[in-house]
Order: sequence, then structure tokens, then C-alpha cells
Amino acid sequence: MTLPDTSASRRDVLKAALATGGAAALSACLEAVDDEPIPQGVDDPETLPDRQFAWNDSLDHDEAGNVVLPEHHLFLYLTYDGEAGNDGTPTDADRERLTAALRTIERAYERSNRGVVFDLGYSPAYFDRFEASLPESVDLPPPRRLTPVDTPTLDEQDALLQLASDRSDALLAIEETLFPDGDDTPETLNGVAVTGRLGEVFRIDDRRTGFIGPGLPAANQGVGGIPEDGPVPDAAPLFMGFKAGFAANQASEASVAIEDGPFAGGTTKHVARIRQQLDKWYDENSHEEMVAKLFSPQLAESGAVEGVGENLGDDSGITAELFAAIDETADVFGLVGHAEKAARGNRDSEGNVRTLRRHVESTDNDNASLHFPSYQQQISEFEAVQEAMNGTDIVADNPEIDPRVRNGIFRYIFVENRGNFFIPPRSRRAFPTPQGGDAA
Ligand code: HEM
Repeated sequence: MTLPDTSASRRDVLKAALATGGAAALSACLEAVDDEPIPQGVDDPETLPDRQFAWNDSLDHDEAGNVVLPEHHLFLYLTYDGEAGNDGTPTDADRERLTAALRTIERAYERSNRGVVFDLGYSPAYFDRFEASLPESVDLPPPRRLTPVDTPTLDEQDALLQLASDRSDALLAIEETLFPDGDDTPETLNGVAVTGRLGEVFRIDDRRTGFIGPGLPAANQGVGGIPEDGPVPDAAPLFMGFKAGFAANQASEASVAIEDGPFAGGTTKHVARIRQQLDKWYDENSHEEMVAKLFSPQLAESGAVEGVGENLGDDSGITAELFAAIDETADVFGLVGHAEKAARGNRDSEGNVRTLRRHVESTDNDNASLHFPSYQQQISEFEAVQEAMNGTDIVADNPEIDPRVRNGIFRYIFVENRGNFFIPPRSRRAFPTPQGGDAA
């Protein structure tokens, strides 16, 4: 296979290979990166932060100070079958196997976007196998339908492992090595001895892939859901043509961490998979109309968002005054913006942002979609944000606004899956019991 050698093509090979998966895809990646080494991890994983999801300090930041997510993401939805005769509850032997496998990743790859960051979460269905319940400090209801306009499939696998890196060959190598297929079982990962394999304790039920970063959506827009004339701007990190995740509009990792109880340092994670249908987005809207629907009609009118939104710096411009005036905005413009609407539910009593959003694009199944992970102390906080985004109150008061029309971006996005997960602190991440016991 002849591989192009420009940097843009290299990123695209890395993206395509992860979406395809398997040993041949890993080989294609390795040719594209031409032996460029990936930094190894720590000798002693005990030195790593206890908050599994505390990635930000180790990731790149842009000039304005916003976190830049790794370019490639792998979401492995996992099933734990347990050992026969143990009622499906995890054994200490399995805890040790899982701990060894996770530590293998941490020894093999630097915990950064140049290496690999990851977190492992458990679903309510996982905890159902135990007689005891989770402590009150962990709010983890089963996933459910959260908008009036979508009927998603509920993800009820036992666990979700999300891995992210600028080097998809690292993600593929982890998958190939820790879930070995047949006789080919490499003994090392990035030059580090394998001491445990995920395949010894988990089965992969579903494999989803994601990517983000300027240029990648434009280069990968030849899929369902995007018009054939290729309208996605080269500078856009996301298919809809704008930047998201500004520092001032994101919760800090510390503030989404559970504060008390056996799982202090853990958090909850909601993950939606959202199909995008962007023909009308690109065919019907001018730049100003896009800004109105994604941010706020008031920001559109003042010309606040230029191009993909780099000029915004570290703040989307969605102020408390703006979202407090949303009823007036709806009256005047007959339209409300996605961000201003959702932000109404996204502040605590002191005005701090409640959720940490880390969404990335996908071309799985040859259709444009978005993986939308959101971290918050309690799942009920995410549900409140989603309710604010639904805008049911605004729709009820404004004849011009329908649940899917002129109501932010609802016309273009369709929720296909929803899952809720609990991310235990690192020290309790190996098959936790509801009381917090594990063998690590
Ligand atoms: C294709 C789907 C989506 C796209 C392209 C998108 C994009 C954006 C953009 C550009 C902003 C403004 C900049 C920022 O603060 O990041 C924003 C804000 C926001 N989005 Fe989305 N979003 C999507 C789906 C969702 C979903 C499903 C939720 C779930 C409730 C959500 C929750 C929020 C919240 C809470 C804010 C406001 C942040 C604040 O409090 O200021 N978004 N989104």
C-alpha cells in the first residue's frame, strides 16, 4: 500500500485506520507514522492522578488556553460475564487481571495526547448484579429518553472504556494486544511487557470511534448526513463548522468530582451518540443564521462569532444576562440558540458551570455523528441541562418555535444512543463493589 506523506494525509490515514480497526489497519498506521516513537508511560502507575478523567493538565492547550482534545477516540462498550459459580459478581482474580491490564496501558504510554489518556466507567446495569446499592454520593440512574423528539437505544453494557490519543496507532495497538484475536498475542505493548489483558475479563459488545480537530471533519465529510458539495470549512474542528468547548464554558475537573464517600474523586459520565443530518444546516443557513441557532441570535446580530469562532478566545460569549433574557430573545427573533438555551441549566447556585463536555465527531457506519460524553457530579445535573436544551417552555410560549424548528440545532441532530456511567477514582476502578471495595 502506498501512503501519502503529507501531514494532512497522515492524520487522515490515522483516522481511517481507527474507524476500520484490526491488524491490517494497525499496519497501515505504522507505515504512515514511519517509526516515529510514542512516549512510554510511568514505571509506577501509582504515581498517576486518582481522578481517572483528569486529563486536562496533560493535554495540549490552544493560544487562548482552551483544552485541545486528542484527535482520535476509541469507545469500547464492554460486557463482563464473570466466572461461573460466582453469581456474575466479579472475583478478586478478575480484579487483579483488570488492574494488571490497565497498568499495562499506563506503563506503555505517556498519559497525554502524545501517548494515551483513558477512563473506565461502569453502568447501572453493572451494579445491578450486587445486592447492595451505591452510596447516596453516587447518582447513577439507568439511561432514559431525555428529549421529546428522540427515541434512543439505551446502552446498558457493563462498562465503557474511552481511550484517546493523537496517535490512533496507539489505540489500535492497545486493542490488538489487550483483546488478542486468535494465536497472535504480542507480549509487549509499545515496548513494555504485557502483564494483563482486557480480553481476559471483558468482551467487546460495541466499538465506536471518534475524531476532532481542525481539518479532520473537512477531510472526512464524504459520508451520509453531509451534502455532497463538501461544505464543511477546512478550519472547523467539528462537522457543524464551529469550535466548541471554550474554557470559560466548561466545568473544571475538580468541580465535577464527587466530593464525599468511598468514591470521592470519581464522577459520572453521560454519553450520547447523535446522528447528524446537515444538508439543511448547510443549505438553508447563512453564517449569521448558523451563529444564531448554535450560539444566540443576539450574538449573531452583534457579529460576535467570526469564521469557526477562534476569535472568541476562551469564552463563547454566552453570559448570564444573555440566557436570562431568552424569553425576550425568542419573542424578538422567533428563534433561540442552542448554547444559550442549554446554558440555562448549566450553572450551579453560584454561577459556576456544572458540566465538562468532551464531544467528538464520528463517521462510524458511514454517517456523520457525534459522540457526546459529559462529566458532572450527578447524572441528574446532566438531565437538567438536557431539559434546558429541550426548550419545552420556550416552544410552549412561541408559535414560531417548534420542538425541532428554530429551537437551537434540533432540526439537525438525532439522538441514537444514551448511556450513563460512573467513573470510579483510579484506586477503585477495577470492578468496584457498590460499597467501593476492589483489589487494587
Ligand atoms: C452536534 C451536536 C452539538 C454541537 C455541534 C454543539 C456545539 C456547541 C457549541 C458550538 C456551543 C457553544 C460553545 C461552547 O460553549 O462550547 C455549545 C454549547 C453548549 N452545548 Fe452543545 N453542541 C452539540 C450538542 C449538545 C448536546 C447534545 C448537549 C447536551 C445537553 C449540549 C450541551 C451544551 C451546553 C450545556 C452548552 C453551553 C455551555 C455553557 O453553559 O455556556 N450540546 N454547543
